[in-house]
Amino acid sequence: MPCAVKICVVGKGGREHALIRALRESESQPEVFCFPGSDAIHELEGAGKVEARDLDSLITWMEFTGIDLCVAGEESYLVTGEGLANRCAQSGIPCWGPPFAAAQLEASKEFAKEFMQKHQIPTGRATGCANYEEAQRAIDGQYPTVLKFDGLAAGKGVAVCPDQESADEFLREVMLERRFGEGRLLVEECLEGPEISIFAAVSGSEYLILTPARDYKRIGEGDEGPNTGGMGAVASRQLADPELMKRIESEIVAPTVRGLEKDGLNYKGFLYFGLMLTQQGPKIIEYNCRFGDPECQAVMPLVSGDLATFCLEGAKGNLQPNLLSFSEGWSVCCILASAGYPESSRAGDLISGFDDVTDARVYHAGTKKQEGQWATNGGRVLAVVAGGDTREEAVEKAHSEASKIHFEGSQRRRDIGRLHF
Ligand code: AMP
Ligand code: GLY
Repeated sequence: MPCAVKICVVGKGGREHALIRALRESESQPEVFCFPGSDAIHELEGAGKVEARDLDSLITWMEFTGIDLCVAGEESYLVTGEGLANRCAQSGIPCWGPPFAAAQLEASKEFAKEFMQKHQIPTGRATGCANYEEAQRAIDGQYPTVLKFDGLAAGKGVAVCPDQESADEFLREVMLERRFGEGRLLVEECLEGPEISIFAAVSGSEYLILTPARDYKRIGEGDEGPNTGGMGAVASRQLADPELMKRIESEIVAPTVRGLEKDGLNYKGFLYFGLMLTQQGPKIIEYNCRFGDPECQAVMPLVSGDLATFCLEGAKGNLQPNLLSFSEGWSVCCILASAGYPESSRAGDLISGFDDVTDARVYHAGTKKQEGQWATNGGRVLAVVAGGDTREEAVEKAHSEASKIHFEGSQRRRDIGRLHF
């Protein structure tokens, strides 16, 4: 029997838990490792631990262990040092994740905007600004306006401002008080319409569009309150009718992939398109160089086939769409978040009820093993994902299964999947 393919997944959250489950369910039965991983990923999925503490030691470990494929779950290492994919390439390890220069599509909003303008990909008009005065001039009294800090801001760098007062407050904090440190800012046209998340697997000039999803970013029901990492998601091919999907493919996905090729960016990996469906058609709000979290948890159960071989071949520049197939049904993911989220998170609350969940997948996002029991260890704690032939069936199942899990201070939006666009 040939040796199993060895895969190292980079990341530690619910998205990586879902990816690892899907990789392990692949017909090729790979051996999976995860860095830095989590108690749940190692214990429940049997993913091997990686003896490394940073990018350098991770590369050394992968070389020593004979890793056949590195899969970038989260984005941070793609733009650390020379970049995860670049370092893998130097070591001859195929990497499912884009090189440093291509990952600027997510890391720099201004780079992404220039890329879209250059390749005529529909997006909101925007102006890059270096300081407070330039930003004021770019806004030019037009409200609502969208202000985007171009740097790391822990998900708090975007403000949709209905009026001068809110815009001024954000500008002062970001450009004068430098709450997020030095960096430029984009003043962007405010777009209106429902949002949808589109995912493509990209390898050079080839791509495969996966099942679309919608995430629920706000903490509160009815999409109220502050933004979070995502409180749930719904995924189905039926979220977008064939005509809309064709338009998204021809106006957004295909020109992006052609642009990446033209610019020599050698993109390999999942590419996430955050879209707004405006009256003028689909427009890009943002690119992410990875799968969405929690969209990945909702999408993965709808995917069958050999994800491991698909990613390995894709990373080698040989995308094989026929290795995957997609169910027609619906999938709903409910997040259970800890007390205090999203302003803070509480660790150490004991979690019960796992054994009562019989008809859903449970992925761990922020848990740890504490004296033999699972406890909270982060903002988003668990993702409970259920499927069904209809939206209603999947929604009811996801909520009823999620309600069986308990911990103190647990927060769950009851309208996940129920609230349409
Ligand atoms: P981001 O942090 O880039 O994911 O943006 C957070 C949210 O801000 C998005 O999900 C949108 O709801 C909103 N947003 C971003 N850009 C725009 C825009 N140009 N027009 C309207 N809303 C936007
Ligand atoms: N669900 C949004 C994201 O992954 O960025």
